[in-house]
Amino acid sequence: MHTPHGAALIKNFTHDVAGCKGTWTMAGFRDLEIARIREQVGSGRVICGLSGGVDSSVAAKLIHDAIGDQLTCIFVDPGILRSGEADEVVKTFRGRFNIRLVHRDASDLFLNALAGVTDPEVKRKTIGRLFIEVFEEEATKLGGAQFLAQGTLYPDVIESISFTGGPSVTIKSHHNVGGLPDRMNMKLVEPLRELFKDEVRALGRELGIPEAIVGRHPFPGPGLAIRIPGAIDREKLDLLRKVDAIYLEEIRNAGLYDAIWQAFAVLLPVRTVGVMGDGRTYDQACALRAVTSTDGMTAEVYPFDFGFLNRVAGRIVNEVRGINRVTYDITSKPPGTIEWE
Ligand code: XMP
Repeated sequence: MHTPHGAALIKNFTHDVAGCKGTWTMAGFRDLEIARIREQVGSGRVICGLSGGVDSSVAAKLIHDAIGDQLTCIFVDPGILRSGEADEVVKTFRGRFNIRLVHRDASDLFLNALAGVTDPEVKRKTIGRLFIEVFEEEATKLGGAQFLAQGTLYPDVIESISFTGGPSVTIKSHHNVGGLPDRMNMKLVEPLRELFKDEVRALGRELGIPEAIVGRHPFPGPGLAIRIPGAIDREKLDLLRKVDAIYLEEIRNAGLYDAIWQAFAVLLPVRTVGVMGDGRTYDQACALRAVTSTDGMTAEVYPFDFGFLNRVAGRIVNEVRGINRVTYDITSKPPGTIEWE
């Protein structure tokens, strides 16, 4: 994306030099994956970790199309989701898609384990470990599923481990592919493992998933925990949820949601002095981030106009008690990553 005429360069190589025909289609991929899933799974049972995001939604729908009620989705609410998200997941998958769904509120478990944890990699690994543990528990209750489905994408794979055995560097241990304990006796079903995000969306449309889900911004597995540098607790999470909801509401109202790859707020571990009415405040600062990207591997800052940022900052400071300063993150990827941790 960052090379002038990069796409043309690659197309010249694949089509003219290597002689590829370009006959690959998403419909073909879907049929192939459905056949592959049926072959891999046989008459076995699959549990799918559902987060409500694009990736796990598409994976779940694809697998459900392949094997129907042999699939049970397990939605673990880790207590680090955005506001209203848990209800929405249950409504969509149980109600609309008629997919078997177990809903487990594990927020106490996650938040207790994360109490006092400040290191981003420890957060990530703790969350990954707990997700797996809860899956195992629920799978056991269900009577022993042999397969665990995940919406792992190619960028997760590249950035976490080497797909081909080549020398890719580990940037972050994304929980989707890291930390699976050896003792886990389930085989992985990862039908999106070779796709980039834009391709997952195209596949979702091919599968008839509503635009509201398919077009949704990516949300990381470790959730709001990696948007609160330092230790997290319920109070900070609630604060961040309020800020995030205002920011996203303004983005939607301005008609900018679809032009942005990902937009979110970060709660900064910094208190700053402010003035409110006649009084002094000494409250927390937050950062807003919005980037454009095609695959999450590189990203550019979204160039909001100043009036928009000013309006959002005004609303946040006025409506969220405990926040008295708003900053906008203008770092591209590289050298920054999209998330702050
Ligand atoms: P970064 O921060 O590495 O993020 O530039 C690239 C994309 O991946 C998402 N992300 C994650 N997704 N588990 C996930 O499922 C993770 O641990 C994780 N970390 C980052 C991030 O939101 C962005 O879309």
